[in-house]
Amino acid sequence: MSDTNSILILPGDGIGAEVMAEVVKVIDWFQDNRGMAFTVDHDLVGGAAYDAHGKPLSDETMAKAQAVDAVLLGAVGGPKYDDLDFSLKPERGLLRLRKEMDLYANLRPAQCFDALADFSSLKREVVAGLDILIVRELTSGIYFGQPRGIEDDTSEGNEGGRVGINTQRYTSGEIRRVARSAFELAKKRDNRVCSMEKANVMESGILWRQEVQWVHDNEYPDVELSHMYADNGAMQLVRNPRQFDVIVTDNLFGDILSDAAAMLTGSLGMLPSASLGAPMANGRPKALYEPVHGSAPDITGQGKANPIACILSFAMALRYSFDRGDAASELEAAVEKVLADGLRTADLTGPGGGDAISTSQMGDSIVAALSSAA
Ligand code: NAI
Ligand code: MG
Repeated sequence: MSDTNSILILPGDGIGAEVMAEVVKVIDWFQDNRGMAFTVDHDLVGGAAYDAHGKPLSDETMAKAQAVDAVLLGAVGGPKYDDLDFSLKPERGLLRLRKEMDLYANLRPAQCFDALADFSSLKREVVAGLDILIVRELTSGIYFGQPRGIEDDTSEGNEGGRVGINTQRYTSGEIRRVARSAFELAKKRDNRVCSMEKANVMESGILWRQEVQWVHDNEYPDVELSHMYADNGAMQLVRNPRQFDVIVTDNLFGDILSDAAAMLTGSLGMLPSASLGAPMANGRPKALYEPVHGSAPDITGQGKANPIACILSFAMALRYSFDRGDAASELEAAVEKVLADGLRTADLTGPGGGDAISTSQMGDSIVAALSSAA
């Protein structure tokens, strides 16, 4: 295990910089109080990078991202950049990072903090204590497969005369690598993986099931593996989500299932994510951590942004890049504590829901909770 932990911070645009400032406080706390050595570099992405260099991500920044243990990203975009040429848009900076780092496993946890259980669209008793992780294959599948397109189709009886085509195509290698990610993650959690596909109606689903089983039998026999059809998985996620630990699924099903699971826990301001790629020379995966939310131009500069999604993204970095599940749990417990104490940013107060605290007050409170528990 490596004893230096290198981080590249890319705050990006809008509230990205505001929430990232709170993450920096948390990083400093772990450095000062837990003897963790971090080397932290800051750089630009998105509109901020465009303003500085005329590109949403410079080659220098790209090279740094390839070299560090973890990239922490805030958010990109904003109305100021809406009229830019497609190739210069802030989103292209993020897409370039994902593509060139080949981040094929997208991790979306759904974690329900007890104090916010009433925010869920489901009953408190169904979601309280929920802690699941959806691993979505991100770089292949039906969003990328060939052939694709819209063509003329003048076959008899086809009103309108056209056909739309997309192809689901997964190689065994693509399935095995994301399965390995899921099993590795499960080992750092509750040691259970449920793989979802539609092997009953799709050949790519049959291969998916066989290859996930192969990786299990040959490399991770001690992790509990189950298989489920994705439509049943959708039902089980809303019926009894706590039955799952890690769910691994393809790009399309993962897109839908992860958004559905996110809403089990409530606010956009609470949702972290990670995207992981192949293991580097030090054994750690290439990794980018970011909140699910965007740059929120409607509240930028007002101190209203909830920094918890970004702080929980850093907790994921502690667990999955820095092998410090203990520190990750400590940070999650501090978040749980401030919420239990009734502290809320504006997004969590609801209409007429009392006094909200600011972005920096929330960050300070989380750091104070870390110190008082320590
Ligand atoms: P958004 O996620 O930025 O905001 C949606 C709504 O949620 C807004 O009302 C916002 O105020 C609120 N919100 C979001 N994060 C919050 C937080 N941490 N605390 C409190 N409230 C929060 O999505 P929207 O409005 O569709 O997009 C705004 C910009 O962000 C666009 O330029 C879009 O392209 C970009 N975007 C960037 C993403 C990224 O960097 N990964 C993801 C989604 C959107
Ligand atoms: Mg989606």
